[in-house]
Amino acid sequence: MDIDDVLALVRPDIRALKAYSSARSLASDGAGQSGVETLYLDANESPVEPFQGSVHLNRYDSQQPPVVLERLAKIYGVEPDNIMMSRGSDEAIDVIIRTFCQPASDESILHTPPTFGMYAQYAAIHGARVISVPLDPYDFSLKTDEVLRHVKGPNNTVKVVFLCSPNNPTGAQIDQKALVDVIQKSNAIVVVDEAYIEYCDTQKLMQLLPFNPQLILLRTLSKARAMAGARLGCAIGAKPVIAMLRKVLPPYPMTRPAMDAVQRALMPENQHQLKNIRAIIIEERERMSMALNASMDVERVWPSATNFLLVQVKDPAKMMKLAADHGIILRDMSAQIPRAIRVTLGLPAQNDRVLDAWGISVQCV
Ligand SMILES: Cc1ncc(COP(=O)(O)O)c(C=O)c1O
Repeated sequence: MDIDDVLALVRPDIRALKAYSSARSLASDGAGQSGVETLYLDANESPVEPFQGSVHLNRYDSQQPPVVLERLAKIYGVEPDNIMMSRGSDEAIDVIIRTFCQPASDESILHTPPTFGMYAQYAAIHGARVISVPLDPYDFSLKTDEVLRHVKGPNNTVKVVFLCSPNNPTGAQIDQKALVDVIQKSNAIVVVDEAYIEYCDTQKLMQLLPFNPQLILLRTLSKARAMAGARLGCAIGAKPVIAMLRKVLPPYPMTRPAMDAVQRALMPENQHQLKNIRAIIIEERERMSMALNASMDVERVWPSATNFLLVQVKDPAKMMKLAADHGIILRDMSAQIPRAIRVTLGLPAQNDRVLDAWGISVQCV
């Protein structure tokens, strides 16, 4: 697909919509031109800070605060206009669906369960249809031909395909060839959610962006970058596509305190800590996988390219209770995957608490 084909997938009313001019976006065009300190009396903000020591808390931040945007662009190896920052990648998912799918029509998204639930949830809230192509139940691989059957023809109703790699909750990476096949052969937007990609060795899809304007990648600071509380994720794609998404995003989604914290966390001198924790989690993934596999209560531990393990057990209710009795909260996934529990990996001593709760000897690991 070329960029014109891709933009033709955008809802016609959104394509025609003029981007909202917020006070802050208009002000940034004229600020500093007079030679005296700029006085902002354009956004009905308070002239004073709410408490002594707060910094610019009385002011709106811009929709895409430039310092953080430029830092993310460097990290991801793209230009700032290739990125839409959002409140978590959750909000990017919502914005993408609202940009491409006309509500209450037959336009649909396609997802591949078991997978992250918010694709279908946001589609339902927006009034878009959801087409499900389940992963292969034996190895959680993508049924590429079946996906392509829904998205190849010119008259298909699928506007957006959501693929998650590595996938939550299975932990599996989608085979690279299958991903490329779907990206290149679909007549639809293909979103690849890479929330957990920092835990993988292969991170190649970013290289496909310049040649595939139908591809949108989702990244988040919530997982390996340890900032779930800051609520910052992003969609990365072709500049004209990102410009459409930014039209749908609210004018002031980013909060000053979150941006200040993210700016500090993304400084080069703070990056070593992330590398250390990534290495620990990858080591723990191996150790916990072996330990859990040795338990009589565990039927299977699925291979994982993430910071969690999907564990199939004989009796999920019993295992959830054992964990809860030891003050540990796990995620019961048995409604989606038979007898499955998702265990997020913590520090070694925290993971030992799970082993202890489930009666698995830490010594034998
Ligand atoms: C696959 C996947 N995508 C997106 C998200 C949303 O992350 P956030 O909104 O914190 O960026 C999650 C959260 O668990 C996830 O697992």
